[in-house]
Amino acid sequence: RTLIGQELAGSDVIIVSNREPYIHSAGPDGIRCAIPAGGLVSALEPIARGCGGTWIAHGSGSADRETVDDQDRIQVPPDNPSYALRRVWLSPEEEKGYYLGFANEGLWPLCHNAFVRPIFREDDWNHYKTVNARFADAVIEEARTEAPIVIVQDYHFSLLPRMIRERLPNATIVTFWHIPWPNAEVFGICPHATEILDGMLGSDIIGFQVPLFRINFVECIDRTLESRINHENWSVRYGGKTSQVRTYPISIAWPDQPLRTAISSPTAREALGIKPGAKLILAVGRLDYTKGIPEFLQAFEDLLTQHPEHCGRVHLYYVAAPSRGEVTSYRTLHKDCLRISQAINDRFGTEDYKPLLFADRHADRDELSRLYREADVCVVPSLHDGMNLVAKEFVAEREDEQGVLILSRFAGAIQELPEALAVNPFDLSKLTATLRAALKMPRTEQTERMRRMRETVRSKNIYRWAGRLLEDAAHVRARNQLLRRG
Ligand code: G6P
Repeated sequence: RTLIGQELAGSDVIIVSNREPYIHSAGPDGIRCAIPAGGLVSALEPIARGCGGTWIAHGSGSADRETVDDQDRIQVPPDNPSYALRRVWLSPEEEKGYYLGFANEGLWPLCHNAFVRPIFREDDWNHYKTVNARFADAVIEEARTEAPIVIVQDYHFSLLPRMIRERLPNATIVTFWHIPWPNAEVFGICPHATEILDGMLGSDIIGFQVPLFRINFVECIDRTLESRINHENWSVRYGGKTSQVRTYPISIAWPDQPLRTAISSPTAREALGIKPGAKLILAVGRLDYTKGIPEFLQAFEDLLTQHPEHCGRVHLYYVAAPSRGEVTSYRTLHKDCLRISQAINDRFGTEDYKPLLFADRHADRDELSRLYREADVCVVPSLHDGMNLVAKEFVAEREDEQGVLILSRFAGAIQELPEALAVNPFDLSKLTATLRAALKMPRTEQTERMRRMRETVRSKNIYRWAGRLLEDAAHVRARNQLLRRG
């Protein structure tokens, strides 16, 4: 972690993401500053801190907009200001068109095989372009040199790399795409496919989670743009410039000081509503139709129906954090999940047994850590997922080397965690059978699998992800400098 900072000390590094690394919200004692959940901030913060760089993000949820004079640019973290957070404020129309519309009703379903139809509205596209251009202005304003290193995050900014390149030709631009990249046929549905690919190829390096997404991306380029592709080193020559297409599976920070909560203490379990002696199946994720929530609820119901010996002996705790509630498909999903959960509890619940605890709320780090440690089985039933960090978080918390991970074949994480029980969440009968097998897995087998998974997650952690990405950026930058000198 320190190494990343040292190597880059003094470099002009700019990170761009839609979400802020610090969320400011108004509370009774004034402005509160919180770190959002997720791996992105822990991965990129050491970089921003180490080099005193700048982080540019959409200023949503920033309650201090009205209360702080110079709200566009503040120093963070609050307790030890070491880098600048530059907020780009969007109008409600821009937020609706760029974020809810084009990014989340267009690109998100386009990139995930969840059979939700992408919606492309011309108006949303125009806002997406405008907002990308506004972020490009912010990058240009924040750049301290003519050759900054700019690290662009995710599908909200596919046009940004080209926009930066046009104005800062010597910048080193790295784009990391956190979600899946679809095959060429699917991607071709997007009316703006050409502009998006052209936009991304403004980057020196384009990073994906797993090899398949890189293959799909290169195939899309091949079909769409006049370019030269080198399949040996995964580079694309286009418009007189070369972009490297790489894979960097994202990860988590290995916990420095794991919580020492007693595992399986009867009181902790009772507090959760778990019957004494019953087993706990845990699932955690955003309330998103890509996460396979209704599918898994159905598998759980099938388990109780087909194998009634589990009634009273097993609970499912589902933490589903509401997400993107302004989008219709998300609201419908939320209602469906509540309805299905109620039906399961009505059918199988008794006075002292509630089979399903469906928590449609955010859970903080400490609560999740305790739940991961209590769970007998953790299930990640995503229909499609770029990586899925819940799987890695569960493994990281299991110092006791116990617990079974059931992981979707369609989550990027399965490639690094083959010791998990892999499932196809569309195949309900197998999903139910896997759940049964997980509940019966002998402790020695749990240890064997968990030990290997822990070795993987410990070594392939978030600092390695950031380190590899920056090392490649440094090589590209050095090569470009040499080429410029002639
Ligand atoms: C995915 C995306 C992230 C995004 C996150 C939460 O993991 O890859 O870019 O931040 O979902 O979604 P939200 O729309 O709440 O930022």
